[in-house]
Amino acid sequence: MSAHGTPIPMQSLAAGPLTGTADVPGDKSISHRSLILGARSIGETRSSGLLEGQDVLDTAKAMRAFGAEVEKRGDTWHVNGVGVGGFAEPEQVIDCGNSGTGVRLIMGAMATTPITATFTGDASLNKRPMARVTDPLALFGAQAVGREGGRLPMTIVGARDPLPVRYATPVPSAQVKSAVLLAGLNAPGETVVIEREATRDHSERMLTGFGATVVTEETEEGRVITLTGQPELKPQVIVVPRDPSSAAFPVCAALITEGSDVLVPNIGLNPTRAGLFFTLQEMGADLTFENPREEGGEPVADLRARFSPDLKGIEVPAERAASMIDEYPVLSVVASFAEGKTHMPGVKELRVKESDRIDAMATGLRANGVEVDEGEDWWTVHGRGHGNVPGGAETASHLDHRIAMSFLVMGLATTDPVRVDDGGPIATSFPIFEPLMSGLGAVIERL
Ligand code: S3P
Repeated sequence: MSAHGTPIPMQSLAAGPLTGTADVPGDKSISHRSLILGARSIGETRSSGLLEGQDVLDTAKAMRAFGAEVEKRGDTWHVNGVGVGGFAEPEQVIDCGNSGTGVRLIMGAMATTPITATFTGDASLNKRPMARVTDPLALFGAQAVGREGGRLPMTIVGARDPLPVRYATPVPSAQVKSAVLLAGLNAPGETVVIEREATRDHSERMLTGFGATVVTEETEEGRVITLTGQPELKPQVIVVPRDPSSAAFPVCAALITEGSDVLVPNIGLNPTRAGLFFTLQEMGADLTFENPREEGGEPVADLRARFSPDLKGIEVPAERAASMIDEYPVLSVVASFAEGKTHMPGVKELRVKESDRIDAMATGLRANGVEVDEGEDWWTVHGRGHGNVPGGAETASHLDHRIAMSFLVMGLATTDPVRVDDGGPIATSFPIFEPLMSGLGAVIERL
């Protein structure tokens, strides 16, 4: 939905080729973290390249409510922080909009300070599970009271005398890991998170950059991350790399649209995020990494994607799921244009994202002529091959930006247009999606 709640129906049409350069916005995960860690350091953190999507703007607003000064001057965001234990009690309810990352990380960040805060979100966020975060926060001494099933709105009473925590995450989730680490910042001693599967490590990298001591060890139990509590975080100058999860859309669009050749410069290629690109290469995509380099502690490269008429369906390894968890919707679109089946196991987490992404994509793909099988934690797309995907149906975005963008990418290469009931949620993560795609030659229309 738009900010006013009015749906924005859209459709995309076969046109192309897509050509030129796609300058996608800053990384959403890193943008949230730069505001939250900036707010918990003493002094002024400056971030450039920050994603100005609604999710991140909601986190900026929340940081103000907890007492930090957050202001954009020119192209730079300035955050004057209050220290690891310096959050003030907000006067109003904190509305995190559509953002699971925002609400879960902020709950962690306030849980070890003796203040009370109430959180809410939109209809999508208020359906999502929060116990995965409030369970470990209770071990620090924080209390949570929410709706049935651990849903928002929810009030967190921060611990007065927090204890350090040792916690093995029961689901592969960087949000859970980060919430525990952000809570551990204001607990004495060492807070330890153990994750069986490596999830995105932006929090660990950025905490280290801000001067905290974070040690990561690979053990038989999995990845063991140890944070030493109560450091003084030092403000940083952060250049946010561009978002690989946003890059996925023009990249996948180029692969399926005849004659395309698109350059997507400066993309963060942290190995805990880049699984989609290796998967596409295994499918036979003409996708290359040019000019690999390191920026701001994160590996980056320029991606070049060209039309790839001979894509093949593959088995996507379950152990790769965490490194491409947000990219399965658009991968399923590419898989529709491949020859043969693409099987995607180990993806139960897709059912608790902004929407149930297996259900949302399977329903829309079927409506547009693609066969899909699904189980609780897997799905299989039966590819029809290039030039053979009918399209022609309306799909529901379920307040989920990535579902909306995936179906708009699909319609660029189907025989008939693909419609999306509401493209409004795209603004949460990729506010320039429409002009950027149109600039490459895509035909995406508001209805
Ligand atoms: C994110 C972690 C992932 C991802 C989300 C961003 C983060 O969620 O889906 O878009 O910034 O930590 P989970 O932690 O639920 O896997």
